[in-house]
Amino acid sequence: MTPDSIELAVVGGTGLYALAGLQDVEAHQPVTRYGTPSGPVRVGTLAGRRVAFLARHGEGHSVPPHRINYRANLAALQMLGARRVLALNTVGGIGERFGPRVLACPDQLIDYTWGRISTLCEEPGTEVLHVDFGDPYTPALRAQVLEAARTAGVALVDGGCYGATQGPRLETKAEIARMRRDGCDLVGMTGMPEAGLARELGLEYACLAIVANWAAGAGPDPDEVITLEDVLANVDAASAGIPALVAAL
Ligand code: HPA
Repeated sequence: MTPDSIELAVVGGTGLYALAGLQDVEAHQPVTRYGTPSGPVRVGTLAGRRVAFLARHGEGHSVPPHRINYRANLAALQMLGARRVLALNTVGGIGERFGPRVLACPDQLIDYTWGRISTLCEEPGTEVLHVDFGDPYTPALRAQVLEAARTAGVALVDGGCYGATQGPRLETKAEIARMRRDGCDLVGMTGMPEAGLARELGLEYACLAIVANWAAGAGPDPDEVITLEDVLANVDAASAGIPALVAAL
């Protein structure tokens, strides 16, 4: 395999630990200057192209959002030759258009995380970077994702603001009410620092958000309790179209 033979890298989130349809898979475990990724990077063939898949939380979901080595994950994909990254993120819905089982391709984000290593210039002596991040997701890749969804016949909401929270606990109703006032449509725990690091690494990066539940107090029943079973069942149902979308992409 030549280093730039990977057409697309897919990073899977909660409930998405493998990429259906990936064939002739080889597992790689690159060691990067930032350490080791969450698990093996599985490189295989999908729709005749080389595609890489990495489970962000590890294949057994053993790494919580605040402990993920986001730098190593993205650097590992880049070392293997990836230039385009599609991030699959399981989220809660805040805005009306973002109910459970909706797929969305957000175009903005707000970072509420804290204490995570969020830049490549963490270590003394590294070059100080001030990358442009006005549009946090690569517009050209977003356009390709939307086009791929149309081609594959998969319903996908265009746009929305992703609010990245620290987790691993879910949010309070007051936190979600504040996020709504801030303009957030979606809430998840892994959107940052991943998107910022991708920009620093020079990777194209877009998010495919999978709405697993109404965020706390945001749905028609404000007292609904969010359970892991509901989250996983909704991710399962909403993910049915993802292999076709990725193949089209
Ligand atoms: N909040 C934060 N992250 C999430 C949620 C949520 O409600 N659902 C799935 N990931």
